[in-house]
Amino acid sequence: MKTAPDTDSLAALQQAARDHLWLHFTRMGGYKDSEVPIIVRGDGCYLEDAKGRRYLDALAGLFCVNIGYGFGDEIGEAAAAQMRELPFYTNWSYAHPRAIELAAEVASLAPGDLNRVFFVSGGSEAVESAWKLARQYYLAHGEKQIRDLVTPGARAGAQEPETMHDAIVAGLTRPAPRRYKAIARHIAYHGTTFGALALNGIPAIRAPFEPLVPEVRHVHNTNRYHRPVEETEAEFTEFLLDDLEQTILAMGPETVCLVHMEPVQNAGGAFTPPEGYWRGVRDICDRYDILLSADEVITGFGRVGYWFASERYDIRPDIVCSAKGLSSSHAAIGAVIATDSVMEPFLEGSSMYSHGITFGGHPVMSAIALKNIEILKRERMLEHVRENEGRFRATLEQLLDLPIVGDVRGTGFFYAIELVKDKETRETFTDDECEWLLRGFLSGALFERGLICRADDRGDPVIQISPPLVAGQAEFDRIVGVLGDVLAEARTRVKSA
Ligand SMILES: Cc1ncc(COP(=O)(O)O)c(C=O)c1O
Repeated sequence: MKTAPDTDSLAALQQAARDHLWLHFTRMGGYKDSEVPIIVRGDGCYLEDAKGRRYLDALAGLFCVNIGYGFGDEIGEAAAAQMRELPFYTNWSYAHPRAIELAAEVASLAPGDLNRVFFVSGGSEAVESAWKLARQYYLAHGEKQIRDLVTPGARAGAQEPETMHDAIVAGLTRPAPRRYKAIARHIAYHGTTFGALALNGIPAIRAPFEPLVPEVRHVHNTNRYHRPVEETEAEFTEFLLDDLEQTILAMGPETVCLVHMEPVQNAGGAFTPPEGYWRGVRDICDRYDILLSADEVITGFGRVGYWFASERYDIRPDIVCSAKGLSSSHAAIGAVIATDSVMEPFLEGSSMYSHGITFGGHPVMSAIALKNIEILKRERMLEHVRENEGRFRATLEQLLDLPIVGDVRGTGFFYAIELVKDKETRETFTDDECEWLLRGFLSGALFERGLICRADDRGDPVIQISPPLVAGQAEFDRIVGVLGDVLAEARTRVKSA
């Protein structure tokens, strides 16, 4: 047996990190000659590293620590109490009080008739589960109609099939065209498991794993910044909806089961929807009988000032995916929330959603999520976001004075700043310039100055800002102060390079 290294001293901890820990989406080679940043504690909107340096976490972890880092004791007590009472039981055929209470709580917060909650362990699993649910929904829903399609001749003397599967096995029918395809948007990020990965519209993270789950096509996202300047908002909406409808027609509407989109798209930089967009998407989904899934893994539980952005934008989805904010990421828990009509075929006869995950609805995770929701309510955090979003935007917009800042966009406590080479023409940086600007300079420089946010070029280069929902004017000012200095320096360096 190998001996675990001593991690008592900081040097030993650093060495063990380099030797054993595999960081996600991280160029590990970069840590051969530099130190792994080790974060050891947090309070409010702030983090502290192993050397005692403080950082303003303007990304709330990964867009997820909505209540901030100040409620660990209270949440820990809820977790400990649940540990003592029932540390684990499953949602496979059984229920337990915390999962029931959390399901009822989430259903009460979700808009419309989104009343049924299926728990998972995170965002990718939620997305994966939504697509699987959509595929199986049409099978479950179609069983009766398919039985009616049974060839009369072949049926003579045969027993009436119970399910579509029985009918197919007995050779009584041909399967109807299967609805299995999905539509998502360019540059959107939806997670890393195979189904969720296939939905991603980011070529670089799809490419190493192809071929992916069939079949996804990607439509335009709602990035307005690079559209023709003379285009009106109404024309933009029309363009987007036409693209969606033409894509459905090209795929064969009778084969598409799911349209999966974020209310405000994160990757690419906080793309908000233009007026009329969601009404149009809903209409198109209704026209072709396709389920609409809102990926609220980031936007759910307060990020845009509402429990769900679906409420804010009146999206009326059939399925909602949530995770991060559900527990403010104090626990590994996510949820797929379905409407009564999506649930309906699964309540009939022997029908069953053939899907499950050991940790789905874990009692300790559920207890943590319940406590998180209690804190969000008690501390009026959603109201705080709505009351402060104007001030936050106005503060961020001061950065528009810098020649390198082309656009400030977003809503609630969810923003992106797009960086441009030429503000007049909106020309963006080349791949090489982005590589230097974002990874070679900005990420390190911002961290050095005590600010954690994300410099990202999955689309055009942006800085993403998404602080804990407890942030106030002091944090807004600090974000803009540090960004202002560092971006001004970046511009000077790019020009002289
Ligand atoms: C919109 C969206 N969907 C899905 C995911 C995947 O979530 P997870 O990382 O918990 O699997 C993410 C993660 O950032 C996300 O932003």
